[in-house]
Amino acid sequence: MKVFIYGYRKEEIAFFEACIKKFGLEIATCEQRPNMENAHLAKDYPCISVLSTPMPKELIQKFYDLGVRFISTRTVGYDHIDLQAARKIGMRIGNATYASESVADYTIMLILMALRKMKLIMKSAEVQDYSFDGVQGRNLKNKTLGVIGTGNIGQTLIRHIAGFECHILAYAPHPKEAMKDYVTYVDLDTLLKQSDIITLHVPLTETNYHMINKETIDKMKDGAVIINTARGGLIDNEALIEAIENGKLAGAALDVVEGETGIYYNNRKAAILKQREMAILNAFPNVIMSPHMAFLTDDSNRDMVYHSMESCVDFLQNKENPWEIQ
Ligand code: COI
Repeated sequence: MKVFIYGYRKEEIAFFEACIKKFGLEIATCEQRPNMENAHLAKDYPCISVLSTPMPKELIQKFYDLGVRFISTRTVGYDHIDLQAARKIGMRIGNATYASESVADYTIMLILMALRKMKLIMKSAEVQDYSFDGVQGRNLKNKTLGVIGTGNIGQTLIRHIAGFECHILAYAPHPKEAMKDYVTYVDLDTLLKQSDIITLHVPLTETNYHMINKETIDKMKDGAVIINTARGGLIDNEALIEAIENGKLAGAALDVVEGETGIYYNNRKAAILKQREMAILNAFPNVIMSPHMAFLTDDSNRDMVYHSMESCVDFLQNKENPWEIQ
């Protein structure tokens, strides 16, 4: 059973080696993400495993022409893959689930950091400013947290954060019975109006692109805080910048940001980045930015590799595949 691995990272090597033994796989690897230039490496491999690099129509077609029939992304999100183009030519696609507490707990950390003004505290301490100037924070207790999306990550976040004694509202198309003891499900407008902190846990789709925009921000409480560990495209950067500038929002913590692709996951220390919105957001003392790392734990790396490989095995053996995107 042959699988070609793109974006092969050193943190994953031991897990891939374990999978080779466990599933009897024959793998070949490439450290680069897949592109038109290195696609030929996967010739005659029926499955490829990728990370979050964009997979547009032309690249999917190229892999199909080379004999690839299944693309497994070692990520939960699959908005980087042109699903419609894949479906059209019969290329099958799968994702990989992983330890949801990786993102959920990171989100809790960002919520606390935003409320406690941790960016400013750390920056001040770096230059030996140990004063109280501008760093008084807020407690989470008795605040209202609005959770948009109650899939695996949203549910884990809710269970873990409940101990902080905040009120939790949730908005999701399909309310989860298991969450009933922790949250009150409300419509989106109610969540926007009543929440002190709003956190996003939905996949990016064609219908929710820029769901946080000028109009939805206007509905929010003055002084609300936005947290995004899901996908950058959910927030309109311009509207967020304006709301930080005019003080409507008290802050934001963004592990993801629209325009991050090709910038994050690289050392760009000496580069002049042509992404002004990221630069502006990063310059605000009350906007915390991290480079799409919420997933990055030992447990997640293990799950991403194992689930992607198991998914390829399911495909190759024509078995039911829980990770295949329908
Ligand atoms: C995902 O799994 O969907 C992520 O956001 C992490 C990935 C881009 C490495």
